[in-house]
Amino acid sequence: MVDNLSRELKKFCDLDELSAAAAENIVRLIVGSVSRKGSFSVALSGGNTPRTLHHLLATRYRNEIPWENVSVFFGDERYVPHTDEQSNYLMARETLLNLVPIPSGNIHPIPTDFVGPEKAAEAYEAELRSAFGNGENSFDLLLLGMGKEGHTASLFPGLPALDENRRWVLPVEVPAVPAKRISLTFPILNRSSAVYFLVAGGDKSGSLAKVLDSGGDVHIYPAKGVIPSSGRVVFWVDSAALGG
Ligand code: 6PG
Repeated sequence: MVDNLSRELKKFCDLDELSAAAAENIVRLIVGSVSRKGSFSVALSGGNTPRTLHHLLATRYRNEIPWENVSVFFGDERYVPHTDEQSNYLMARETLLNLVPIPSGNIHPIPTDFVGPEKAAEAYEAELRSAFGNGENSFDLLLLGMGKEGHTASLFPGLPALDENRRWVLPVEVPAVPAKRISLTFPILNRSSAVYFLVAGGDKSGSLAKVLDSGGDVHIYPAKGVIPSSGRVVFWVDSAALGG
């Protein structure tokens, strides 16, 4: 246990070992949820870290997952066409969703074809509220990464979106390329039943140490703001990210 926030830390030699363990655990989560309530909802993260996990879910575990009962959402998106190589949706399609028999209606991409990100954010919020608005929880599993400066989803240090307590989805401008993004906010991220951070690489060791530390400021290390009201948070990290 990392601290009294009931955050757990699972350590692995490298990204391959981390991804293999996470994949096996996630399959159990999916199968258990589907047998209990007939469904499983997951929000995918972008970036590169999830690629290995996606590959394992699409190959080794492809036939163990009841894809028809799985719904896929996204924690954030770059405001680029879904055909753009920077698109988180395209990455998920290429590494996972195009390779498994998931019904197209179960996939809920963040739209990026509106006139501007504000309307796209409003549209996605409406979709999320339609899916989760009547219950206490949001996603059965929220997958998140963490940037080397401690951002998660597209919640970067210093963003006003870090203090949002009503809207579930906001357009943001971030100090990364591309700058225009859409991000889910803490109000919905923290309704998840389980949050898995996948963090690998030595360039993240400084911010990971700060995020795991019980003190500190969410405006400086946004990943610290992920504290589900009734869910669990597990950090799946490799030794490099722990400074090893
Ligand atoms: C994005 C992600 C972002 C990502 C981190 C880590 O849109 O880029 O959602 O939050 O998880 O930047 O990215 P890597 O996995 O590539 O290090």
